Amino acid sequence: MAFALITGASGGIGWSLARELASHKHDVLLLARSEENLEKNAIELQQKFGVSAHYLAIDLSQPNVALIVKDWLAQKNFTIDILINNAGFGSWGGLKDIAREELNQMMQLNMITLADLCKVLIPELEKSQRAYILNVASTASYQAVPTLATYAATKAFVLLFSRGLRWEYKGTSISVSCLSPGATSTGFIDRANMGMLKEKSEKFSMTPDEVAKIAIRGMFANEAEIIPGLMNWTTAKVVPLLPKSWPEKIAMNLYKTDK
Ligand SMILES: NC(=O)c1ccc[n+]([C@@H]2O[C@H](COP(=O)([O-])OP(=O)(O)OC[C@H]3O[C@@H](n4cnc5c(N)ncnc54)[C@H](OP(=O)(O)O)[C@@H]3O)[C@@H](O)[C@H]2O)c1
Repeated sequence: MAFALITGASGGIGWSLARELASHKHDVLLLARSEENLEKNAIELQQKFGVSAHYLAIDLSQPNVALIVKDWLAQKNFTIDILINNAGFGSWGGLKDIAREELNQMMQLNMITLADLCKVLIPELEKSQRAYILNVASTASYQAVPTLATYAATKAFVLLFSRGLRWEYKGTSISVSCLSPGATSTGFIDRANMGMLKEKSEKFSMTPDEVAKIAIRGMFANEAEIIPGLMNWTTAKVVPLLPKSWPEKIAMNLYKTDK
């Protein structure tokens, strides 16, 4: 049986996506950096759902890492029919305050590795009769977000890249969907140095399990854009209808005043 390859599956939304697929009896490949978590997660999926689960501990923010992933699949003789590009992070602050290395790492992981994994793994996906790509963006894809300017721009890339790719593969065996979660209770906020927003954001947050259930259903239904949660969906649909400066100003006030 072909595997689902999920990046960022050591915790958060990626781990919930892996569990959701395993509950559908899909074999899984888990990728992230934290080897201990990946090993524990793979064992849990094997024991709980009886699926085959393997992992690769790897830093996906390295240049050309997609080729290492492709070689690993070939060495292990793994075939894949699902690619979920979920690994990503945000970094809060003005451009002048965020370290250059951090910005470059974010752009590399959120955009370049994501697109390169699609590029090098689509020939592998084409070996299956039916295959799926799910790229994880954000509700931040739909507008510019001051103090998360680079992060929001990387996610706008993911959304537009996924929509374009979807047309390129229309009528083929490969379906391409984009998942845009809103606030979700994971390690994201701490990683992004947004602890000051934690209390407020938790009031509106979905759980990663809720997000994963909706995401996997949408992916198998070949939806172009999956936006879990009514409030997130409504916001994402309304924002593009407004003058751009309105939601930008709201975001600016929200993130600045809470510091
Ligand atoms: N949570 C939210 O509110 C929210 C909202 C919208 C969109 N998203 C998006 O959802 C996706 C998942 O985030 P999350 O909320 O689940 O955050 P999370 O809990 O911080 O999980 C991030 C995952 O990505 C992995 N990762 C980070 N850097 C990596 C690297 N250099 N190489 C390999 N793996 C790496 C992490 O594993 P290791 O640390 O073990 O490498 C972890 O498994 C991200 O793309 C994020 O932008 C999240």
